[in-house]
Amino acid sequence: MLGAREIEAWLRESDPARLAELFAEADRVRAANVGDAVHVRGLVELSNHCVRACLYCGIRRGIASLARYRIQPDEVIECARFAREQGYGTLVMQAGEDPALSVSWLVDVIERIKAETGLAVTLSLGERPLHELRALRAAGADRYLLRFETSDRELFSRIHPMPEEGATHRLALLPLLRELGYEAGSGVMVGIPGQSYASLAADIALFGELELHMIGLGPYIPQPGTPLADRAEEFALPEGEQVPNDTETGFKALALARLVRPEANIPATTAFATLDPAAGRRLGLERGANVVMPNLTPERYRRLYAIYPDKAASREDARASAATLTRQLTELGRPQGSGAGNCASYVAP
Ligand code: 5AD
Repeated sequence: MLGAREIEAWLRESDPARLAELFAEADRVRAANVGDAVHVRGLVELSNHCVRACLYCGIRRGIASLARYRIQPDEVIECARFAREQGYGTLVMQAGEDPALSVSWLVDVIERIKAETGLAVTLSLGERPLHELRALRAAGADRYLLRFETSDRELFSRIHPMPEEGATHRLALLPLLRELGYEAGSGVMVGIPGQSYASLAADIALFGELELHMIGLGPYIPQPGTPLADRAEEFALPEGEQVPNDTETGFKALALARLVRPEANIPATTAFATLDPAAGRRLGLERGANVVMPNLTPERYRRLYAIYPDKAASREDARASAATLTRQLTELGRPQGSGAGNCASYVAP
């Protein structure tokens, strides 16, 4: 298994021939362990209300210029039907930390999705109390995504102001999610100000130690109006230490994630496609990824889920992006996955 030191050396590698080897190896490991099928997860962004104030995030609380929305349950079901129709195996429901998306609201929606479509359900709803996570699992949710963003505790607490004394680190929730029977996913942003090569290398090594079922990562994209974008210089490290937030470094991290977790489901995330609309998704799929997550959020809400500027999918509706995806997979010679696309190393508790 790759150690943190070796991972760091790869992250610092700039020789194109060596990098081509890294990417080819990630592609080989992907093919050998999860095959050629690309699993498609339809993404629905339920709400852009958020009680948290994460310094990098465009839907953090208190952004006065941002109109807030919360989707209607019937609209989620519409998205699920669309996903089913397109042969997508999973619906991912993501939101800010919005207390008004109560457990009963979510349980109803999950039960309806399960009854009407049979899709796998992934939740990405931030930190929730254990009893809520248990109830959502009991209602039928299969997987939970919670990026730990950085394993550097000091940087983590600088960019994640805590709402109350003694709030938990996201990392602490991951083993609990597994115990509840979820497939557990996590990940990081690549190139946040203050992230050193050594700390990103430690993050990637941790993906392996945590035996994650899913890994989501992508370059950090500064969102004007957020503290991390507006005051980046207060965080950034000296040049030789700071991880750049470009796609190439992101792809190195993606390839390394595949090498430390050969069986994980790893998406070519929207952040890559946002920075490189022409090739971001394809390159991700050629450098370790085996999943894509097209955005199904109803159009009138799209631009309001403004985590970062110009999110790739915000320009294309669900039907157009389904057509684009089909074309891209054909060009790549990779079949669309069928079924739920569970992680092979998942074992029910
Ligand atoms: N740039 C890139 N990714 C971001 N995320 C949040 N804000 C940004 C940003 N400005 C990522 C975080 C979060 C996921 C939903 O989106 O990693 O976990």
